[in-house]
Amino acid sequence: MISRDHKIYNTFGLEAVAENYCEYCSPEELLVDLSVAPKPWLHVGGGSNLLFATPRVEGTVFHNACNAIEVLSQDSETVVVRVGGGVLWDFFVQWCVARVWYGAENLSLIPGEVGAAAVQNIGAYGAEVKDIIERVETLDSETLSERVFSREECGYGYRRSFFKSGEGRRFFVLSVVFRLSLKPRYNLDYGPLKEIPASELSLAAVREKVIATREAKLPDPEKIGSAGSFFMNPVVPARKAEALKAEYPDMPQYPAPDGMVKLSAGWMIDRCGLKGYRRGNAGVYEKQALVLVNLGGATAGEITELAKEVIEKVESTFGVTLRPEVQII
Ligand code: EPU
Repeated sequence: MISRDHKIYNTFGLEAVAENYCEYCSPEELLVDLSVAPKPWLHVGGGSNLLFATPRVEGTVFHNACNAIEVLSQDSETVVVRVGGGVLWDFFVQWCVARVWYGAENLSLIPGEVGAAAVQNIGAYGAEVKDIIERVETLDSETLSERVFSREECGYGYRRSFFKSGEGRRFFVLSVVFRLSLKPRYNLDYGPLKEIPASELSLAAVREKVIATREAKLPDPEKIGSAGSFFMNPVVPARKAEALKAEYPDMPQYPAPDGMVKLSAGWMIDRCGLKGYRRGNAGVYEKQALVLVNLGGATAGEITELAKEVIEKVESTFGVTLRPEVQII
């Protein structure tokens, strides 16, 4: 199904119109669409991690509308479910919590859809979606054949996967297979989650705490345009981290794989005095400096200029280069 001049929903609230827009509900439908859709091709999810630099997107924009959830198997410890790429991520989390299936709850209220969650390796409050992914089912848009990737083949890292860039972009995620635990298994290392009293601990209590924490720090995409964290937290060699710690003893630092250290971009932007800073109609969110917001009628140019200014300020203060987490189209 291809329609012309379709508005592409995006949580930044920017105007973006697809030359051709194509929504599919099954692999068979996608195959037919691919045979006629003008290139270049762009596959989008819920539009919660995109910044459209120009209002018109050439070629064809695809959206997965497959929204079935299917239980594939269950043993005494775990359950395996297949979830269509078009299912709203937080609906799936809620669905798991309601069944008392453990593993997705720390990722409550993250905007977007299941397919994009698997591409982005969404993460929050000490969890990443890769921890519960069993495999990812895709359609190779070049060979037009279906291909299943095991979790290992997905190349997951911090906000990274094989599907996010280069060669991997030609694989359109159809559905994601998750394995959840039937046995209690909590991940409560992140600060606010430790506050839940042991006597009140339940999956619903964790979900509630995560939601309250997110609502206190992050803008509601329905009210203030944003794409969540605009930048990734930079990962630097231990030697660089030690030098920074000597100069800024209160700088938050976290261990990362391969002996590297993850720094907090939000803390650095805040330290540069940019929290609440405004440039035209774009701003640095007043409650969480890692989030850039559309304060009403901002253009893509205003947002990217603000991002540039933030990058330059952090670079000159800390000698660290921030990279966008948001995908700029
Ligand atoms: N901080 C400040 N000032 C700020 C923001 C943060 O001092 O304005 C400090 C905090 O006090 C804390 C540290 O920086 O010591 C880290 O802050 P926080 O725990 O809020 O998390 P974050 O590193 O800024 C990441 C994710 C979020 C996720 C939170 C919670 C990335 C890019 N962002 O943010 O994910 O919700 O951790 O786990 O990794 C998203 O990806 O869109 C997103 C919102």
